[in-house]
Amino acid sequence: MTQHNDAIGASSDVAEHSRANSWDRETLPEGTEKVTAVRDMFDAIAPRYDLVNRIMTFRLDTRWRRKAVRTLDLPAGSRVLDLASGTGDLCRDLKRVGLRPVSVDLSYGMLAADRSGAPRAQADILRLPMPDASVDGVTCGFALRNLVDLDAFFTELARVVRPGGRIALLDVGVPRNRLIRFGNGIYFGKVVPKIGGLLSDPAAYRYLPRSVAYLPAPSVMVASLRRVGFGDARHHHLSGGITQLLDATRDASQIS
Ligand SMILES: C[S@@+](CC[C@H](N)C(=O)[O-])C[C@H]1O[C@@H](n2cnc3c(N)ncnc32)[C@H](O)[C@@H]1O
Repeated sequence: MTQHNDAIGASSDVAEHSRANSWDRETLPEGTEKVTAVRDMFDAIAPRYDLVNRIMTFRLDTRWRRKAVRTLDLPAGSRVLDLASGTGDLCRDLKRVGLRPVSVDLSYGMLAADRSGAPRAQADILRLPMPDASVDGVTCGFALRNLVDLDAFFTELARVVRPGGRIALLDVGVPRNRLIRFGNGIYFGKVVPKIGGLLSDPAAYRYLPRSVAYLPAPSVMVASLRRVGFGDARHHHLSGGITQLLDATRDASQIS
């Protein structure tokens, strides 16, 4: 785990260090290169991840996660996988409403910062170490764009979620309104990297806004989910579309 960003004033050291790292690049990585870059980047930013998130979203991120948990709409006691769980914010919200989360993430640094008290597992969420139809639900917050194969991820969700189980997936979005889209573009593209650069790793917070380019259009994601076994998949714009939420119920029949 890289622990180089202990102090706010250390940003120049961090900048120098991060230039040597795999996520500090102009082009977006693909395939195994992307998996390594994403894991190393989150290891590096884990210590200040929560702080930067709260500041750059004006705490709206807590509201979006709670909305995802409400949308999941599962009875208390249900077993829920929180995939790409990071520092465990969604796990805390799931526990608050009586659900039983398990935290799964690729980054050891992020898992180590998870204080939710949920059981934790380090794994690539494209290959979950869980049996078929073994969980009641899945949440995933702000990680879809980090994955190398979204269709494979949706297929994996259809495998592990029991028939009738629920999923709620959050990620950043692209607002439909032109004015909001313009303002969000400036904020996310210019201001967030500055805040992230001051408080944490500059290259990581330059990469994060650019990584939105990995996300397919909402209609494409909904169609993929429906195809793999979530027939009622829906898409929601949150906060004017700066964030998006996908929710769905696992069909009664298993995929072939
Ligand atoms: C932006 S953070 C989101 C963390 C948390 N879900 C939240 O809502 O704040 C993205 C997380 O996805 C994880 N991640 C990215 N690709 C992954 C993969 N293939 N398997 C597991 N975790 C992954 C990263 O390690 C990181 O913790």
